[in-house]
Amino acid sequence: MHGLIKMGLAGLGLAAATALGADPAPNGITLPEGYKDWRVLSVHHRSDNGTLRAVLGNDVAIKAAREGKTNPWPDGAIIGKTVFKGDKHDRFPTATEPVAFVHAEFMIKDSKRFKDTGGWGYARWLGAEQKPYGKDASFVQECIGCHTPVKDRDWVFTHPVKLP
Ligand code: HEC
Repeated sequence: MHGLIKMGLAGLGLAAATALGADPAPNGITLPEGYKDWRVLSVHHRSDNGTLRAVLGNDVAIKAAREGKTNPWPDGAIIGKTVFKGDKHDRFPTATEPVAFVHAEFMIKDSKRFKDTGGWGYARWLGAEQKPYGKDASFVQECIGCHTPVKDRDWVFTHPVKLP
């Protein structure tokens, strides 16, 4: 359905992806609006795959982090993560900078709606085309499986940074 509408718009020469936004994830979660304006909770570097990650929070998440109320995180909090391939800065090679967008992913706290998955809804969109990740809704088991080591921290790895 969505795909057909997009084809139609593309035929009219409109930028369909911009007009309609990304398709929802297989579990029905839609790309959180306005995440590009969210504030920083932390940054991570993964040395095994050379990626840089900016962890962002919506207003509810930022407020909770600053008040230290993150176990559990409050309903309405959304944590976003934008992942980039990192490479040496051309004028200063010991500095690593983001060079290509890989994916954006989110954890949405809603203890009622997502009670079967620890109170969090998980979703990921791949690449510049923002393709929803996962063949069907069972993809969340992959997310939860790897987040299990931090189950006692409300499933969240990120330690929000403290500014003076
Ligand atoms: C292979 C293990 C692994 C898998 C699979 C995984 N994550 Fe994570 N996730 C991590 C680690 C480690 C971090 C913290 C370090 C970082 O940013 O990479 C993290 C961080 C996050 C964060 C920032 C909040 C936090 O917990 O620090 C979000 C949002 C997130 N993951 C979403 C997802 C979603 C959505 C999926 C499934 C589509 C997923 N993750 C699957 C390991 C994983």
